[in-house]
Amino acid sequence: MQKVRKAVFPVAGLGTRFLPATKASPKEMLPIVDKPLIQYAVEEALEAGITDIIFISSRTKRTVEDHFDKAYELETELAGRGKDKVLELVQSIRPAGVNFIYIRQAEALGLGHAVLCAKPVVGNEPFAVILADDLIDARPAVMRQMADQYNYYQCSVLGVQQVAREETASYGIVDVSPLADSVSRVNAIVEKPKPEVAPSTLGVVGRYILTPRIFHHIEHLKPGAGGELQLTDAIAALLQEQQVLAYAFEGIRYDCGSKLGYLQATVEYAMKHPEVSDEFAAYLKDRFC
Ligand code: G1P
Repeated sequence: MQKVRKAVFPVAGLGTRFLPATKASPKEMLPIVDKPLIQYAVEEALEAGITDIIFISSRTKRTVEDHFDKAYELETELAGRGKDKVLELVQSIRPAGVNFIYIRQAEALGLGHAVLCAKPVVGNEPFAVILADDLIDARPAVMRQMADQYNYYQCSVLGVQQVAREETASYGIVDVSPLADSVSRVNAIVEKPKPEVAPSTLGVVGRYILTPRIFHHIEHLKPGAGGELQLTDAIAALLQEQQVLAYAFEGIRYDCGSKLGYLQATVEYAMKHPEVSDEFAAYLKDRFC
C-alpha cells in the first residue's frame, strides 16, 4: 500500500481578488493573526504525515521560498539576545526530516498545469494538492482526515462542502452517489458551472488526494474554463477509468482568497489566539455590542 508522502502547493497565482495587497507580495503570505496562510497549509500537510512539500512557485513568490528557508541573520540575532522562545518558533517552520522543494511555473496556465509541473518530483505515487487560500480549521486536520480515507479506499479523494447555489460558478462541482458516512462516489465533475446548470451544490474546496494517473489526463487536456488547463477537467477524465471519491470533511472552511472570508478567518483565529483572545474579545464587545 502506498502512503501519501508528497503534497503540491500551487502558489503561482496572481491573487487578483486581493489587490492592491498582492501587487508585490504573494497572497499566500497574507497572515491570519501572526502566521501566513501558506504556513497553515503546510502544517496541515505535516499533520497528515506528508514529508515532501512541493511548491509550484513563480518569479514573484520568492518570499514563500524564504519563509521556509533558514534565516541565518535572524536566528543568530535571536540566539544572541537569548530570545529562545521566538527562535524556536522561527525554527519550527522547517522541521527536521521534511523536504521543501520548489518548482517554477513560468506561465500561469491554470491549476492543472501547476499540478503537472510537479510530475517529475511526484513520480508514480499518490499525492495531495492543497490550495492555501482555502483555510480549513479542523481537528484532526482535513488532510489527515482525507489521508485516512485514501488509506482505506486507495483511490483519489476530493475534499467537498455544500456551497450556496448562487456560488457554483466559483467551484468545481461534483455529482455524487452516497457510499458511506461522509463519503460519496463522484459520477461527474464540472468546473465552475452556472447555478442553473450545476449538477449539485457540492463544491470542491482546495483539497485533493490524487493518484499519479492524473498526470496522463492533464497532459491530454485542452484548455477549459478561462482558457486554462483545469485540474477539474483532468479529474473528469480520470473518473472514467478509476474511482474518485468526494469526502465531506469535518471542519470550517474560510475562503481567504476573498476579502470577506479573510476577515472572518482573522476574527475567528484571533478569538482563539492565546496571546490576544481575551483582549480582542473585550475590544469587540466594547466596540460593537
Ligand atoms: C480552484 C479550482 C476549483 C475549486 C476551487 C476551490 O478554483 O479550479 O475547482 O473548487 O479552486 O477553492 P479557483 O478558486 O482557484 O478559481
